[in-house]
Amino acid sequence: MTKFFATCARGLETVLFRELEGIGASQIETGRGGVFFSGGIVELYKANLWLRTAVRVLRPVFDGPVFSTDELYDAVRTINWADYLTPNHTLAVDCNVRDSNITHSQYASRRVKDAICDQFRETTGVRPSVDTERPMLGLNLHVSKNRAILSLDSSWDSLHKRGYRPIQTRAPLNESLAAGLLLHLGYDGTFPLVDWMCGSGTFLVEGAWIAMRRPPGLTRKWFSFFGGLDFDKSLWGDIRDTAREEVATTLAFPPRGSDVRADAVELAQHNAKGAGIGHLVTVKKLELADAKPLPGEPPGIVICNPPYGERLGDEDEWIPLHRKMGAAFAENWPGWRLALFTASDKLAKQLKLKVVRTTHFYNGSLPCKLWEFV
Ligand SMILES: C[S@@+](CC[C@H](N)C(=O)[O-])C[C@H]1O[C@@H](n2cnc3c(N)ncnc32)[C@H](O)[C@@H]1O
Repeated sequence: MTKFFATCARGLETVLFRELEGIGASQIETGRGGVFFSGGIVELYKANLWLRTAVRVLRPVFDGPVFSTDELYDAVRTINWADYLTPNHTLAVDCNVRDSNITHSQYASRRVKDAICDQFRETTGVRPSVDTERPMLGLNLHVSKNRAILSLDSSWDSLHKRGYRPIQTRAPLNESLAAGLLLHLGYDGTFPLVDWMCGSGTFLVEGAWIAMRRPPGLTRKWFSFFGGLDFDKSLWGDIRDTAREEVATTLAFPPRGSDVRADAVELAQHNAKGAGIGHLVTVKKLELADAKPLPGEPPGIVICNPPYGERLGDEDEWIPLHRKMGAAFAENWPGWRLALFTASDKLAKQLKLKVVRTTHFYNGSLPCKLWEFV
């Protein structure tokens, strides 16, 4: 059993904890900005394949005090790197530093890399080379308050990069956050899901993938555990293929989206196609007040992430929109729940609906809340 740390955006730890239970991880424990768990390579592969809310899955190999880059170098030299790579491997080190004597993350990364390469040069005469795109061994160095944690990074590229949204739009929601909000709401595809301000369609795609039990990493080309000395290609292939065979091809309640902007509708359709669900979800150009439940469908969730103004004072211009949302929901969606993701309490209160629950999340560094109304 190995101890891992799956990182996530602050606020998503509880959802990630439940996801880890779902893949059979053990000794799960919430940390800051992530969740610890134990498991073998099956759980490691499943974590990378299945976790919708994780950013990356790390395996710590050093954890201790360091007060200078020289101390960091010495600490890294104490590890026997031949356990993890050969001189023919490529490597890359990603680093973040905070509140520490070490202040330059790039220099700290270089010292870690030098320590590993020097060890190989001394023992074998050959040193591994660097590849920051697809390293066979990705390393993650986190230095906070002069404590360094160096981990093998089994994912490398952030797991939120699902591959269906190549075009950068104005305000798309991060894929992991969108999936996390849906899971937090208990969404599992057994009731309808509507996003009446769908923008690039993130809730629609993530919702459909949850409902289909389609793993977010199913078609991803590279995880850095592929480059590990212990990579079991056939085990990985079995885990991925079993998951693929179990993906549902039809949905009882395909997620529906609409947006007032024609370019948003087009983009959401494009992204849905890219995610392989273009034939399942429907996206229409509609003013939100004109969006309605389908005849005879049971009540479900309307979820949305409206504009809220990024600068102080900007929010007032969105008050009429939020009043309209409250009125439209009260009139057209009896029995449904409305979930509103926003950074503005003032705007959320304009809906004048009964609040069932509010939960804190972060959108990047911006504190936000998910408001649940009935
Ligand atoms: C912050 S974006 C949503 C982003 C989306 N969650 C995503 O991941 O791409 C807000 C969306 O609300 C839409 N919108 C604004 N007013 C609207 C209205 N009255 N009716 C419908 N959509 C509206 C905008 O066109 C925009 O696409």
